[in-house]
Amino acid sequence: MKNKHIIWLKVVAWVVCLISLGDLLYRYFTQNLSANPIEFVTNETGQTALKLLIASLAITPMRKLSGWNWLIRFRRLLGLFAFFYAFLHLTTFVVLDKFFDWQEMLRDVTKRPFITVGVLSFVLMVPLAVTSMAWAIRKMGGKNWNLLHRLAYASAVLGVIHFWWKVKADITEPATFGAILAILLIYRIVVWSRSRLKAGAGTAAKAALASE
Ligand code: HEM
Repeated sequence: MKNKHIIWLKVVAWVVCLISLGDLLYRYFTQNLSANPIEFVTNETGQTALKLLIASLAITPMRKLSGWNWLIRFRRLLGLFAFFYAFLHLTTFVVLDKFFDWQEMLRDVTKRPFITVGVLSFVLMVPLAVTSMAWAIRKMGGKNWNLLHRLAYASAVLGVIHFWWKVKADITEPATFGAILAILLIYRIVVWSRSRLKAGAGTAAKAALASE
């Protein structure tokens, strides 16, 4: 894929990632944020954060299965937008929902398990966002960086649990997110165990040759 095309695709990706924010702003200015605007904004930003986080996790399998290596250039963009929406989600909770009432927030975090899990999911996203730039890969080394960035899976799993726990009756939406994430995780585990088997077979072959 030529650089010129990548730039255009990045513009498209930025536009797609900003649709949710644009929709919220449009609804705000047209006073169309439903009967419960705070709940609406919290849910919309939470869902978008989770969608983008899972989309960023889908990049590697899609790249490997399709052979489109250029896809990797979109992983950071999606991950950072996921963090951006998670941050908006948290800000809505802190500023609009709780009006900076730290005591009540602490009570929520300790007494309402779905909030505890949401906070954990967000906390795991922070080191990923901080180390998302190229200098961090250089400084940490590719191996350590990759290891740290597996936290994205943990964050997404916690995000799905947070969502699942929050809904009371219809679990269709969190179950759909969970199913997609499960497929991505299974793919990762299969690739990982295959490479372990190959490495194991290589070592066994070397040992057999050495003993001849
Ligand atoms: C920073 C800590 C977090 C807090 C305090 C928090 C809080 C909340 C609250 C209070 C709601 C329910 C809103 C309502 O119905 O009134 C909610 C929903 C939700 N949150 Fe979070 N959350 C956090 C982190 C996250 C993260 C990191 C994600 C995604 C990875 C996420 C995804 C969601 C989703 C998908 C929903 C449900 C949306 C829906 O029902 O349509 N949250 N969160």
